[in-house]
Amino acid sequence: MVTSPRPVSLTGIKPTGVPHVGNYVGAIRPAIALTAHYDAFYFIADYHALTTVRDPAVLDEYTHSVAASWLACGLDPSAVTLYRQSDVPETFELQWVLSCMTAKGLMNRAHAYKAARDRNVDAGVEDLDSGVSMGLFNYPVLMAADILIMAADVVPVGRDQVQHVEYARDIAERFNLAYGSRFALPLPEHVTAEDREESTLPGLDGRKMSKSYDNTIPLFAGRDALRKLVRRMKTDSTPVEEPKDPDSSALFAFYRQFADPEACAALRARMLAGGMGWGEMKDVVFEQLDAVLSGPRERYDALMSDRGELDAILRSGADRARERAHGVLGSVRAAVGIA
Ligand code: TRP
Repeated sequence: MVTSPRPVSLTGIKPTGVPHVGNYVGAIRPAIALTAHYDAFYFIADYHALTTVRDPAVLDEYTHSVAASWLACGLDPSAVTLYRQSDVPETFELQWVLSCMTAKGLMNRAHAYKAARDRNVDAGVEDLDSGVSMGLFNYPVLMAADILIMAADVVPVGRDQVQHVEYARDIAERFNLAYGSRFALPLPEHVTAEDREESTLPGLDGRKMSKSYDNTIPLFAGRDALRKLVRRMKTDSTPVEEPKDPDSSALFAFYRQFADPEACAALRARMLAGGMGWGEMKDVVFEQLDAVLSGPRERYDALMSDRGELDAILRSGADRARERAHGVLGSVRAAVGIA
């Protein structure tokens, strides 16, 4: 049996790029905040990234970069189990068991797979499965295995991943229907920070910061690069002396994510009083952002330049993760009749 003193929170981060400030506000910071109340298992989904990343050096670099980012942002590796998906082979054994419980029709309806088929329709390609690998098709089953192998209770994810967590729940229910009297998997629930206004960050053009809008600020950009990017943020043409409306200003919405309530109230008052131009406001925003990120940036650079410490942290995370996974997999094997 698997027992845990506190409910378990689990999430996976696909290493497909270097994190930006929007990832920090929308995903990293809220997931780290949850670790105060949960037993947290956070991992780098390196095998999931294999559906798109084909350069081994790039996969390795992004894997380290993601791990270093979360640590630099304050994840405490003695309290949180931080590991690489590929270091827990039990996941892949469970994936097979789960795929035997999963209706193919459920996978046919998965968003990412449907989107790939729609692209073929739009391009006039006759075979709608053209360009679709079994990895893409099975992606949701592997994700269910990630979640269920740790018997997770809650899964913090972005809105685009909610369907996947619901699938994990459906698949667990199927398993429980067949074997629940011998061993029941807990049913995971998603938690989505993006549903709260305080977790979305405007990007350079004022829309939500997102890689797909090409309006991002890299989380660990150096001080000078950061200043240049903040200067590029969109504003309107209100003259310096006129009052400015904080509630319709993307720059103010951005500032709010990085300053305490008193500083926000002070800036709000200055905007409403008039006399502060957008240029000056950008300097204020930049200094605040840099004050928050300069410590993490130093830590990130240190972790990335000496991979030994990072690798040791991931190894010890893997040991702890495997111990839990081993327990769950043992119960699953016994339940299905594989001794
Ligand atoms: N699919 C997730 C993403 O693209 C990453 C992921 C893999 C994940 N396994 C997971 C997230 C398990 C939560 C739980 O962002």
